[in-house]
Amino acid sequence: MASMKTGSRSSWSGKWAFILAAAASAVGLGNMWRFPYLAAKYGGGTFLITYLVLVFTFGVSLLLLETAIGRKTGLSAIGAFRHFGKKFMFIGVLASVVPFIIVPYYCIIGGWVTKYAFAYIAAGPAAMADGGTFFSSFITDGVDSSIFMLIFMAAAFIIVARGVKGGIEKANLILMPALIVMAIAIAIFTLTLPGALDGAAYYLKPDLSKFSPELVIGALGQMFYSLSLAMGIMITYGSYLEKKASLTQSVTRIGCFDLGVSFLAGLMIVPAAFVAMGSGDAVAQNSGPSLMFIILPEVFADMGQVATIVGFVFFLLVFFAALTSAISLTETCVSIIQDGAGFSRRKSLVITVVFIVVAGLIINSGYNVLSFIQPLGEGSSLLDFADFISNSVIMPIVALLTCVFVGWIIKPKTIIDEVRISAPFKAAKAWSVMVKYVAPVLVVVILVTALAQSLG
Ligand code: PHE
Repeated sequence: MASMKTGSRSSWSGKWAFILAAAASAVGLGNMWRFPYLAAKYGGGTFLITYLVLVFTFGVSLLLLETAIGRKTGLSAIGAFRHFGKKFMFIGVLASVVPFIIVPYYCIIGGWVTKYAFAYIAAGPAAMADGGTFFSSFITDGVDSSIFMLIFMAAAFIIVARGVKGGIEKANLILMPALIVMAIAIAIFTLTLPGALDGAAYYLKPDLSKFSPELVIGALGQMFYSLSLAMGIMITYGSYLEKKASLTQSVTRIGCFDLGVSFLAGLMIVPAAFVAMGSGDAVAQNSGPSLMFIILPEVFADMGQVATIVGFVFFLLVFFAALTSAISLTETCVSIIQDGAGFSRRKSLVITVVFIVVAGLIINSGYNVLSFIQPLGEGSSLLDFADFISNSVIMPIVALLTCVFVGWIIKPKTIIDEVRISAPFKAAKAWSVMVKYVAPVLVVVILVTALAQSLG
């Protein structure tokens, strides 16, 4: 345990473990389900190019900023901000609230995915291809959906309980390569479906007439969520990182990894949905849960003998992606409690688990016993509300505060010096401009748009 920093704090066994863990946190439901839908909605190639540009400018800059704060201070979000002055601690507190809100509902969706993977084997592909009855009766059944949520949670908790090196690193080493192999296999397979190539063309060819401010804002919001930014995760992960690892190179790799998986997810889902619905616009209209939990099972069911296996592998793949993200969220909660309250890792884990289970059960009842609570208007659920508050409200605020904090209070130089400990930082100038000016403006735009949409 010579590489441990101080006391009982965890650390990665090396740079690659860090990159893999950050990539595992990034790659999740956002890539597998939200990205393909947005790509379909915003004209395929045009969205892809915009997203690519945003990831490698804005996204990677913020990843670098968060990782460097974590590594410099050796603390998770609250402690890291407090390190620079007590009055900045609130930024860390706000960031830390986000994983606590996300993880319970993330595990609910993880439970849906688990249920589907099981059902392909137990009930066969036809059971899920019934126009949405299977899905709605499952989520409105509070007992069944809670059980699958708990199964999913248990998988994540067991891995986190085994610690950073023994649990998280080992799990990522198996789950991430498996995920990539399955994603490539399914993408190749769906591209061989009759008519799929038209769908692939729709996905890949830029349709410039679809370029719009909305597209950019959609891509920005997606990028935040997908890269797990503005919620203290990358600060925590950076705090476990050794000084000799190159931060710029690491964050570029994380960006590539996340983008690559999103791209593959689009390649498997958009053409398949296109086959089922005949046009890109139809795919775009079936956003949200229905694309993955209703439309895709219908596409799979038409595949004949291979349907069971394709459906199972697909949901297993999504399960792995969701699981690694849930692990990173849980780990962040544990480390926040551990650093914030000074409890042991074990005690912090127990508190985290109790909280997640209780919150998960409550949010899940929003689909059944508590379905009369519709916080965002007719038909909305507690899960929608948790998602909205965390992603559309708190995260942009945290991102804004973080950029202003680094750009104008502690000054970019503090971070640049940290980055330069391990490697040259050629883009330091451009990065400063990004953090001081470009990022704050873009974030305000996302925030205002999200609020306007929810009110309008
Ligand atoms: N980035 C994950 C995804 O794309 C979601 C996530 C958000 C994971 C926050 C961890 C923390 O699904």
